[in-house]
Amino acid sequence: MTTFDLDACLRCSACELAATRHKVVVGRGNPVAPLMLIGEAPGAQEDQSGMPFTGRSGQTLDRLLNEAGFNIEQDLYICNAVKCRPPNNRRPKKNELAACRRWLDIQISAVNPAVIVLIGATAVQAVLEKKAAMTEVRGQWQTWQGRSVMPIFHPAYL
Ligand code: URA
Ligand code: SF4
Repeated sequence: MTTFDLDACLRCSACELAATRHKVVVGRGNPVAPLMLIGEAPGAQEDQSGMPFTGRSGQTLDRLLNEAGFNIEQDLYICNAVKCRPPNNRRPKKNELAACRRWLDIQISAVNPAVIVLIGATAVQAVLEKKAAMTEVRGQWQTWQGRSVMPIFHPAYL
């Protein structure tokens, strides 16, 4: 079993985002959930709260998940491709995605979900390591490292 070194992650300075973040935003939900959702990066709200998807996008996401019948605390784990907020909410740079990939990989191993939902193009790029048009891949099951992966539109886009 892989264990996630939370203290090390909270102290991480492996990329330039460490300089401007307030909190490292690791994840929320059930740490051994069968379903894992991966977004892009923390926004202002998340940077303050230290929890992913707690701003407007998060409210939309939680509402959609509730409507779909999920118990958010039990059924899933939510995190982001990068754990620190990019200044002005710009998209994470390639080197930042690469630097934070190590945390994401450990999270995926530790949670060990059967299903991964990739929320938006950055998450698709980060995990599948390909630039794909969301209009083409969204809603299409992919297989990645033996897991079923589903790209969906980011709630900020909807
Ligand atoms: N909040 C997050 O935590 N991640 C996103 O991708 C967007 C908003
Ligand atoms: Fe470390 Fe990721 Fe934060 Fe960069 S974004 S400092 S790699 S935790």
